[in-house]
Amino acid sequence: MKHINNIVVLTGAGISAESGIPVFRSETGLWENHRVEDVCTPEGYERDPEMVRKFYDGMRVNLKKVRPNPAHQALARLEKEWRGGYTLVTQNIDNLHEQAGSEHAIHMHGELLKLRCYELKGGCGELAVTTEPQDPEMACPRCGKKVFRPHIVFFGEMPVGMDEIQKALSAADLFISIGTSGVVYPAAGFVRAARGAGAVTLEFNLEPSAVKGYFDAGVYGKAGTTLPEFVDRLLSEGDDYVSSLLSEA
Ligand code: APR
Repeated sequence: MKHINNIVVLTGAGISAESGIPVFRSETGLWENHRVEDVCTPEGYERDPEMVRKFYDGMRVNLKKVRPNPAHQALARLEKEWRGGYTLVTQNIDNLHEQAGSEHAIHMHGELLKLRCYELKGGCGELAVTTEPQDPEMACPRCGKKVFRPHIVFFGEMPVGMDEIQKALSAADLFISIGTSGVVYPAAGFVRAARGAGAVTLEFNLEPSAVKGYFDAGVYGKAGTTLPEFVDRLLSEGDDYVSSLLSEA
């Protein structure tokens, strides 16, 4: 195994589950009682922008009530104390990594706390930060148009930060995936890219994910329990600890 310098972490809905934010792929097939096609596609937004706005308004306001759990805190500690490169990529639109103290999370699927001046409606792409329900009449401070929409990457749209993510993956020595089912691309393909670059790949989940075959080892259980111990030992034992996980797998 090569020496671990650069770490790339990918998180999904499972890391926020213990904070009380529901995951996406539940047995009902619904996301917070809505069909994904209605609230998470450009067509759904086109059909009923007010409903979509209100849907994300509710989730945004709810962020005032939710708190990070030990898994988010463990990653904030890793960012602070790891001496090599560290990149955190999240599919989550909540702000629990930031609340825990992570300073640079790439939110590849957007962020509840941001609105974007919608390019397809003649907007300029400017981002505005808010913790409140969206005012549909708000004018863009840059271009003056009133076409802000939730800064959420809908299905069929380009994720945020792909250049930075690809660069980090191609230099990764250790890739860690936490609480993601591995069915939504491009995130589900990151493990293959990291592996192709020679990284050791580990997954943390309640159960093996859809892409489990690409991981060198898996740690199965609640991330709020498994991750703090993992980070603790990674920081104190480094390569030896990762080797021991691989030999147990
Ligand atoms: N600890 C670890 N893993 C957990 C926990 C937990 N406490 N609770 C749930 N999980 C795991 C589940 O086993 C599941 O594999 O988290 C995963 C959540 O999967 P999804 O709900 O599919 O969420 P995610 O993979 O983040 O979804 C990807 O799909 O709808 C889109 O854009 C949305 O970003 C989202 C993307």
